[in-house]
Amino acid sequence: MQRTWIEETTEKIGETVRLNGWVHRLRKMGDKLVFVDLRDGSGLCQVVFYKPDLDEETAARVDELKPEFVIQVEGIVNKRSEKQVNADLPTGTVEIGASGLTVLNTALTPPFEIDKDSSAVNEELRLKYRYLDLRTERMQRNIRMRDEIVQFFRNYMHENRFIEIETPILMKGTPEGAREFVVPSRLHAGKFYVLPQSPQQFKQLSMVAGFERYFQIARCFRDEDQRGDRQPEFTQLDFEMSFVEREDVLSYTEEMFIKLVETLFPEKRISSKPFPRFTHAEAMEKFGTDKPDLRENKDDPNELAFGWIVDFPMFETLEDGTIQSQHHPFCSIHPEDMEKLDSDPMSVRADAYDLFLNGYELSSGSIRIHEREMQKKIFDILGIDDEEQEARFGHMLDAFTYGAPPHGGFAPGIDRIVMLMAGEPNIREVIPFPKTGDARDPMMDAPSTLEQRRLDDVHIKLDVKND
Ligand code: AMO
Repeated sequence: MQRTWIEETTEKIGETVRLNGWVHRLRKMGDKLVFVDLRDGSGLCQVVFYKPDLDEETAARVDELKPEFVIQVEGIVNKRSEKQVNADLPTGTVEIGASGLTVLNTALTPPFEIDKDSSAVNEELRLKYRYLDLRTERMQRNIRMRDEIVQFFRNYMHENRFIEIETPILMKGTPEGAREFVVPSRLHAGKFYVLPQSPQQFKQLSMVAGFERYFQIARCFRDEDQRGDRQPEFTQLDFEMSFVEREDVLSYTEEMFIKLVETLFPEKRISSKPFPRFTHAEAMEKFGTDKPDLRENKDDPNELAFGWIVDFPMFETLEDGTIQSQHHPFCSIHPEDMEKLDSDPMSVRADAYDLFLNGYELSSGSIRIHEREMQKKIFDILGIDDEEQEARFGHMLDAFTYGAPPHGGFAPGIDRIVMLMAGEPNIREVIPFPKTGDARDPMMDAPSTLEQRRLDDVHIKLDVKND
């Protein structure tokens, strides 16, 4: 007999079905009757074992059932009487009168209850047993919601002529500000790859390569201090478009987010359409932040207050007096500020923009430089000499000499989007296997030490001070 998904049982009244799943809850009513809430990937349903109707062996197996046992049940789908309907359960109009039971696997008592919300459980414990935590209803909902959002973006991008291009995970350093994770090379002693902070350079090179519209559900890696809205590895909807100006990127993105909400979250309300727009200077003066929370009612879980910040400063001065780019050095200069680049670089604005939502920065992007001379000039202002420019960014400078089109792009953070749509307080709740606040994985116990033999392979001698 073919397996039936639990959510399909309501359509199969009177039929005999075979279900697979986990014992979610168990209630024994006297000696004869056992109710099992059975859970599979599609939902929950009630299975009734009436022992007098079962053969002896099956009845004995029913007695041994415990929560989280994996079972296969055969039985008939019965319509519940009006009084017994459970309106809280999508399958609450039916129950399964079981005739057969196979125990596919047993389970120890889980370290926390799977049939309850795990928000209040110690997070270290939840992450150590993440595969159990993910069984809970809320976590299943969050991860499935994430899948739907990603699927929406993939379809939307494809409908608009974008193609998904995979870019390397092993690469040379990017200059985006955050510290990079370093990967030693075995084949090239003393040399290193780094993991991408974002596919910034590759997406620009995809424009030089003539694809015109690139996107990627891109994993990014940053070795920085953690916060509730930051993880050492996270995912962006990274995209880039050729022959565009700022307005094109903003309107494409705005339409996409409105469509996302209308399609997947019709219960939610966007406070202001079109999204309000502020220059960086205006936002700092008015709100004291470039990611204001503009919700009218912060207690309303369905209010979404999107907004734009444009015209970010191109450069900033660090405490030690060095100049650095505020976003990254590939942003183009605001067309009105071009003349000030030589005389007063610190007052120059970038053609860069952010999207914010409910007090979080959702996305950053810019129109890029596509001319070698201009890119060199920015590196000059950043104090990177010719030799270093060649060593670090020679490939970009070269690429710009072979017919690079004007281009620009954006990179909404998927984790933050899902967090805000799911109404969760941090992104760990919407990442299947996240790291702790101090960048550990308690389940696998990563990071971990390696045997000297493996370090020898990659030409590494340790100099670790034990505390
Ligand atoms: P940026 O560094 O601003 O831009 O990142 C874009 C978006 O990615 C998300 N994000 C993060 N999410 C979780 N954990 C983190 N540590 C983290 N860091 C960033 C945020 C952020 O808005 N290459 C440029 C984009 C471009 O110019 O097109 C970039 O990466 O939602």
